[in-house]
Amino acid sequence: MLHPRGVARGCSPELMNKESAAERLAELRAQIARHNYNYHVLDDPKISDATFDALMQELLQMEKLYPDLVTLDSPSRRVGGTPLTAFQQVRHVQPLLSLENVFTEDALREFYRRIQKNLHTGKLSWVGEPKIDGLAVSLYYEEGVFQRGATRGDGYQGEDITHNLLTIHSLPLRLKSQLTAEIRGEVFISRENFLKLNEQKIRQGLPPFANPRNAAAGSLRQLDPKVTAERPLDLFVFSLIQIREGKPLATHWETLQYLRELRFKVNPHVSLISDLEEALSFCRRMNDLRDELPYEIDGAVLKIDDLGFQQQLGSTSRAPRWAVAFKFSAEKASTRLEDIEVNVGRTGAVTPVAKLTPVLLAGSVVKRASLHNEDVLREKGVMIGDEVIIHKAGDIIPEIVQVLKEKRTGREKPFFMPASCPSCQRDLKRLPGEVALRCLNPACPAQLIERIIHFASRGGMEIAGLGEALAEQLYTSGLVKDIGDLYYLQKEELKKLERMGEKSAENLLESLQKSKKNPLHKLIAALGIRFVGERVSRLLADHFQTLSGLAAATEDELCGLAEIGPRIAASLREFFGQEETRRILEKLNRAGVNFRAQPGDMPTEVEGDNSLQGITFVLTGTLPKYSRREAKEIIEARGGRIAGSVSRNTDYVLAGENPGSKLQKAREAGVKILTESDWERLLYLP
Ligand code: IVH
Repeated sequence: MLHPRGVARGCSPELMNKESAAERLAELRAQIARHNYNYHVLDDPKISDATFDALMQELLQMEKLYPDLVTLDSPSRRVGGTPLTAFQQVRHVQPLLSLENVFTEDALREFYRRIQKNLHTGKLSWVGEPKIDGLAVSLYYEEGVFQRGATRGDGYQGEDITHNLLTIHSLPLRLKSQLTAEIRGEVFISRENFLKLNEQKIRQGLPPFANPRNAAAGSLRQLDPKVTAERPLDLFVFSLIQIREGKPLATHWETLQYLRELRFKVNPHVSLISDLEEALSFCRRMNDLRDELPYEIDGAVLKIDDLGFQQQLGSTSRAPRWAVAFKFSAEKASTRLEDIEVNVGRTGAVTPVAKLTPVLLAGSVVKRASLHNEDVLREKGVMIGDEVIIHKAGDIIPEIVQVLKEKRTGREKPFFMPASCPSCQRDLKRLPGEVALRCLNPACPAQLIERIIHFASRGGMEIAGLGEALAEQLYTSGLVKDIGDLYYLQKEELKKLERMGEKSAENLLESLQKSKKNPLHKLIAALGIRFVGERVSRLLADHFQTLSGLAAATEDELCGLAEIGPRIAASLREFFGQEETRRILEKLNRAGVNFRAQPGDMPTEVEGDNSLQGITFVLTGTLPKYSRREAKEIIEARGGRIAGSVSRNTDYVLAGENPGSKLQKAREAGVKILTESDWERLLYLP
């Protein structure tokens, strides 16, 4: 057997000449890479850990003696990286796209037939792969040597996380080829390592990660690679963009084999599929396997095997047309509805929220679920004390899907929405055309606190350190009565608040100070004007350039702007017409908060996802998975518009349950009607 220290060759590193040192180093690199591969990719170690460590030690020692012999593919690159202060941006060779999702077998059949039709072919080969629930990364190799790797980012540009990727031992530093290429894959953390990591976190008194995906994400975005090194990340790769010195490949299946040859870890469950029935059974098999796999998967991916066909079909701006993700249905869990709380939002809308016995659902602990409004509450027929089934709508928002009425004991209590505001006790009103009850008292404490929270939130002024708890403290202590007061806070008064030390007080004042320079659109969005979200704020800032210009605009002028309808215009007029608003703006102005657009502010068109730009939706009925507000936000976030009634300009009517007359009108007008799942597909919602 090989002697780890190389002494068998009768030579200590100090006595070697440079030439033989270079030779020995090359040998060590190759040996270490091979053993690394056996251990981390093939799961078949051929030497003991101690022997491996000895090889590594020898390499490190020699590299210390001959620093100019250190190469980019040296395994020493994996150890001892220094912490970064910030991430660099990296542009991807080709955009990193997402995948179109289907949630049912029928939808998969439909996708399959559509592709067959488009390609005018009856017979199509596919590759099935598990959909790993981790984070997409791109890896750049030049002449066979790993150069750098990045996160997905916005798909075009990601963050350079090379230092963290180097801690992944299954990532080869040198390929078995002089290939220059970008390789994509998914970084994940195994269930076992996730549990270990969380145990460790809990021991250290730190909050545990909600799920393995979050743990992997948090680890990849660490600035200090030493921290990442303690979080055993792993990687499966699944695509290859060859730039130079590659191998001619005709199919995706060949690509996967080639990636294996290059020594990457390719998922062992990938499989070649020749027809729709096999595709369906592959998806079922993956679903059955789901709980047994040592890592989390959230679906199966089907890709057309022939690369020529892939090219022919191409991609939309979001996803390739030649692939589809069959998403496993969101897991369900049963739990008890302990109580129903009534929340008052910043616009006074009053929502019932179910307080649940905490339960693990699709990887995270769920304690609350929105019941949206009184109608939904009645329709579901929930009572306090009921056992309920919950799931995650769109895999994110917990929702009650079923009440187990057969399990009732007779001790359950009915719930009625209160007649008065739980915060200020004023009567609640139901405005015409609205399902929500509202508190119309502008001085209602709950609303004021919510407005402070909104003002400071990411969609608003992004004031670090000012979250829910502090907003409440600031209000109840009397220090802040409205958002204008935030900019007059003094360190000494802040320090008197509970849990507020000198340092946190200073940090808060600093983030407040910083927020004064925010672009105008952030300020507009932060004011929390009804119907004025991030996108509308940008449009308004672009058009008016100053806050006073916007405040002085007439309703007609506002309505004349593209994408601004009478509802938004009226809401803006109402907001700026109030004496209260004038007082707050005066305070903000006096404090030096920026009221003007700057030449550098991002124009509306170029930022974010504008896939629904110019498309008008009308909503009718109740959507099973989304509240209206959520649906509206999702549409507007992508540049789409919501109109109140069906007209010539309507592109789609999104119809939920119990739709109103708008549906009939849409049919008559020949407007395309979408169900919730059509809509999700259209938007590639998860
Ligand atoms: S293919 C251009 N294959 O899922 C094709 N993606 O929801 C894009 N993912 O961004 C990716 N396992 O991060 C592909 N076997 C697999 C995958 C996979 C997980 C992730 C990937 C992608 C996301 C889309």
